[in-house]
Amino acid sequence: MQREELVKALSPDTDPAPYFDLADKVRRETVGDGVHLRGLVEFSNYCSRRCYYCGIRAGNPKVRRYRLTPEEILACARTAVQLNYKTVVMQSGEDPYLSARSLAAIVERVKTETGLAITLSVGEHSAEDYRMLRAAGADRFLLRFETSDRKLFTMLKPDSDYDNRFRCLAWLKDAGFQVGSGVMAGLPGQSLESLADDLLLFKRLDLDMVGIGPFIANPDTPLAGAVSGTLDAALRMVALTRILTKNAHIPATTAMGSIDPQGRQKALRCGANVLMPNISPTEHRVDYSLYPGKICTGEAPEQCAGCVDAMLGALGRERAEGFGHSMKTV
Ligand code: 5AD
Ligand code: FES
Repeated sequence: MQREELVKALSPDTDPAPYFDLADKVRRETVGDGVHLRGLVEFSNYCSRRCYYCGIRAGNPKVRRYRLTPEEILACARTAVQLNYKTVVMQSGEDPYLSARSLAAIVERVKTETGLAITLSVGEHSAEDYRMLRAAGADRFLLRFETSDRKLFTMLKPDSDYDNRFRCLAWLKDAGFQVGSGVMAGLPGQSLESLADDLLLFKRLDLDMVGIGPFIANPDTPLAGAVSGTLDAALRMVALTRILTKNAHIPATTAMGSIDPQGRQKALRCGANVLMPNISPTEHRVDYSLYPGKICTGEAPEQCAGCVDAMLGALGRERAEGFGHSMKTV
């Protein structure tokens, strides 16, 4: 698909049904009916950056900051094992207190003691630090580029450099990580053309995983009062990502479930093959409020496990076997 056709497919005036159906078919044929469950631990909400969209941005006085201890992170990973998840995703803000060295020590313990596949989502670091984290036992890394539009990126991420973001993605690949990236759909000022460019970039970067969610305006950020993205736009992006990348792992994201109670289910029916149930300690969940209305903040890990299994049952899908590593390397 060329840029022009992608723009047309993304346009609200175009019926998305044929794209959704094709994406569902490609998903079934390339990655099957299995859905990989990745347990998400939000282990620190400290962040040194001030991204305009994000609730845990530095300087937001409303955030009650927390940082899990290595023991607490390990306990979450053990919960993941108990719930029969095969991957733990360790996500945090860009916490200046946590050096790559201390993070690597935690990764090593989690790996040795649980044997889980480990995904990190901890932002921008040096090539050397990425290599250290990979050597410590982390298998995958998520770093969304958020938007391919340089101007929009620079406006929304005043502390970040557009080129460095992509340098990081290259370093991660060089370090041997399975690499995930992604974007938000419906950012203020984001055009259909730039979303089409996001899709083409997913393909060009040959990503192992692609995460997409609607932008949800957060009242405690500079984008308070902005118009949020729609589920429809995010679903079109998911479907087109599936059609373009064929076998990338694509999650039905929490943000989709947060703007629509059926959001994740709909995503699973138009290309998605991954769910990331929250396994963070319930007491801290409300403090990881990237956007308002985030689901699962009152639930315990077991409740989310029950919820996603019921969801899969209702959709006629099943938990996938195995770690759910990249389909690109096999
Ligand atoms: N709305 C939707 N998604 C958001 N994220 C951060 N803030 C918001 C928001 N207000 C997403 C970003 C980030 C991921 C962890 O959460 O894409 O990469
Ligand atoms: Fe958490 Fe449904 S996944 S309650």
